[in-house]
Amino acid sequence: MSGNILIAPSILSADFARLGEEVRAIDGAGCDWVHVDVMDGHFVPNITFGPCVVEAIRPHTKKVIDVHLMIDPAAPYLEAFANAGSDIITVHAEADKHLDRSLQVIRGLGKKCGVSLNPATNESVIEHVLDKLDLILVMTVNPGFGGQKFIEAQCEKIARLKAMIGDRPIDLEVDGGVNRETATLVAKAGANVLVAGSAVFGEGDYGANISAIRDKAMAAR
Ligand code: DX5
Ligand code: ZN
Repeated sequence: MSGNILIAPSILSADFARLGEEVRAIDGAGCDWVHVDVMDGHFVPNITFGPCVVEAIRPHTKKVIDVHLMIDPAAPYLEAFANAGSDIITVHAEADKHLDRSLQVIRGLGKKCGVSLNPATNESVIEHVLDKLDLILVMTVNPGFGGQKFIEAQCEKIARLKAMIGDRPIDLEVDGGVNRETATLVAKAGANVLVAGSAVFGEGDYGANISAIRDKAMAAR
């Protein structure tokens, strides 16, 4: 994991009609990772991108493409997302009956692997796969849509996960309602990767938005 705060803009809030241009814009604006929210209309009440969209944006950036699979089942699609050019593939603990196996498959495909936890899910579900993980993604909204209100109670879970991780090289990522105010709370709790959709692609300059979130998070550490 990185010692710095990393910012991962979610392209869920980008202009889909200009997706390549939007990816180049956040890359040029200084993002660290590009976060791709994959939704299936079954695990979450919304439908977004498939592997072909990851493949389409891949030539537009050399930065890490961080794929967040909100799909059930995820296992049949892991290879397609890996071949499309994902760097990190994260599955939801709630959507995977064989989490340990999926993590091994992702690793076997040569990609970094992550597990995401919904707000109501206890962190204990990943206790026995901790040594197989590159990333833990804590949802600070109920997944499905951008622009929702940050659930502050999740900060306690972030802090507990930070302690569970100890000195393992695992990134602790937070997703949902992250802006320059809530960035302070999640960084203080121990997160080092911040996903932000509306707070980057909304009002103002992408570069200024990314820097403001990063600066607030760095100052809170
Ligand atoms: C929610 C997605 C998030 C979302 C974040 O299901 O996983 O990545 O796009 O959007 P904001 O930052 O607007 O809450
Ligand atoms: Zn996400």
